Amino acid sequence: ESTTEVDLSKITPGQAIKTKFRGQPLFVRNLTPAEIAEAEAVALSELRDPQTLAQRTKAGHTNWLITLGVCTHLGCVPLGAGEGENRGPYGGYFCPCHGSAYDTAARIRKGPAPKNLAVPDYKFTSDTTVTVG
Ligand code: FES
Repeated sequence: ESTTEVDLSKITPGQAIKTKFRGQPLFVRNLTPAEIAEAEAVALSELRDPQTLAQRTKAGHTNWLITLGVCTHLGCVPLGAGEGENRGPYGGYFCPCHGSAYDTAARIRKGPAPKNLAVPDYKFTSDTTVTVG
């Protein structure tokens, strides 16, 4: 059981980075106000795996979207965080393997993946540091 510390201080609004957590890709994204608004505007009834942005982020830190970078279809690493700028038609992440498109809350919107990108357990240990795991 190991944890990963992530320094958020250099991740600018609109930027997503890819790091590692227990051997798996981990995406850490600083959402812009427009991306937050886009996620919050979506009705839950439109979602395959219904979750609000608030349920997928921490209170007071809604701009920090932290997910595994593992497509829930067959496990490819989606694009949009350090591996090309193609964020797909919903502006979040795009899996090139079979075309799953995730939105700005990393929720599945199109393509074969059944679930949203997974949010691991994490906590803020300061305003600019999170501990994952
Ligand atoms: Fe991502 Fe199939 S593994 S769409």
